[in-house]
Amino acid sequence: MSDRAGITRRGLFRGIGTAGLLAGCKPSERPPTTTDDPGAAASPGEETAVGPGPAPLSFTLNGEAKTLEVAPNITLLAALREQLRFTGTKVVCDRGACGACTVLIDGVPRNSCMTLAHDVAGAAVTTVEGLASGGKLSVLQQAFVRNDALQCGFCTSGMLMSCQGLLERTRGQKLAREDVEAAIAGNLCRCGTYPNVVAAVLEAAGGSA
Ligand code: FES
Ligand code: FES
Repeated sequence: MSDRAGITRRGLFRGIGTAGLLAGCKPSERPPTTTDDPGAAASPGEETAVGPGPAPLSFTLNGEAKTLEVAPNITLLAALREQLRFTGTKVVCDRGACGACTVLIDGVPRNSCMTLAHDVAGAAVTTVEGLASGGKLSVLQQAFVRNDALQCGFCTSGMLMSCQGLLERTRGQKLAREDVEAAIAGNLCRCGTYPNVVAAVLEAAGGSA
């Protein structure tokens, strides 16, 4: 994904100390990103400069084409919340440790606080606002409600997106409790709703809660 854009997180972090910044990142069962692979090296000339001022960025947000001017150091989380006013995605730690800011990028759960906005150029981004359709909550959201899978709600947007990612990549498969636990391993819930989240996802997947 990062190679589509004119600037990559790797390129940014290399300049300011990658190891220190990423040391506190959450463990995750999620598919690795290019920036999760410290051994991956960019080819010379692979990255092109963007900025330093705002530059045009186009991507799809919840099925709708978006084009905006974004500075190269702005995260996807900030672009979503502050420029596009999609505030369903929450900012809690803002450093990749809690999962509250999780969105789907081409169907894969990612921390939007650790993703530069320009890294999603041409990608399909789904936020929690994209789950409901026609004013009706999605099957997963309805299962969250039925199973009391939220209390204060700080973690809920990110938790939903991690679970939605799981449902999309395992569509038609029978899920086990461990599958859900692995999918939400990077989502912290201070209210301790984990058992209810697991029950909700199993219900939404058609299994027994
Ligand atoms: S706000 Fe992004 S991981 Fe916590
Ligand atoms: S519902 Fe409160 S942090 Fe998860």
